[in-house]
Amino acid sequence: MQVLKDKIEAEGVVIQNSLLKVDSFLNHQLDPELMVKLGEEFAHRFKDNKVTKVLTIESSGIAVAIMVGLALKVPVVFERKKKSAVCNDDVYSTTVYSFTKNESNYVTVAKELLTAGENVMIIDDFLANGEAALGLTHIVEQAGAHVAGIGIVIEKSFQPGAEKLQKAGYRVESLVRIKSFSNGQVNYV
Ligand code: G4P
Repeated sequence: MQVLKDKIEAEGVVIQNSLLKVDSFLNHQLDPELMVKLGEEFAHRFKDNKVTKVLTIESSGIAVAIMVGLALKVPVVFERKKKSAVCNDDVYSTTVYSFTKNESNYVTVAKELLTAGENVMIIDDFLANGEAALGLTHIVEQAGAHVAGIGIVIEKSFQPGAEKLQKAGYRVESLVRIKSFSNGQVNYV
């Protein structure tokens, strides 16, 4: 998606040739006009899939997910992160390990917000190791719902996440795919 590549080019900062800092428009400050465009692009890619709900994980997925929900006219649910497990029969739950942050989060969604038979589109900002996205699929499947596909804003294709998800049978739609970082530059697939 060219508009996103242009934004990354203008404002993204590559850190140690492994991380892309996009705090100025996606992870801390948000660019609302760009968020609308990202939402419309995901909605366009999934327009024939009869999506009934969008699911994301707090916090950075929420801004994009709400724009997808707006474009598809469906509700948006976000997984909540907690540091430790709390016994609660009213929630679906799983544990998500973050390689980048070296921490585990116990994530939950209230059972009343996801129903068997729903067709759920998963949205997240980054795809690196795929743990967050897999955690989202586990929650959808616990509910007896179906994963329509996984929409990612920025895929780091040199990390194993995309392949892991595709091997598990999920459709992955990434708006930009990064092949590598070199000398502070972003190289796309
Ligand atoms: P995963 O997201 O595919 O599971 O991979 P990983 O475990 O490596 O990433 C964990 C966290 O690090 C995620 O944020 C992910 O968005 C973020 N991340 C990974 N690579 C990059 C990168 O190059 N740039 C930025 N800005 N973030 C990256 P999170 O724990 O879900 O936190 P939040 O930001 O959504 O609150």
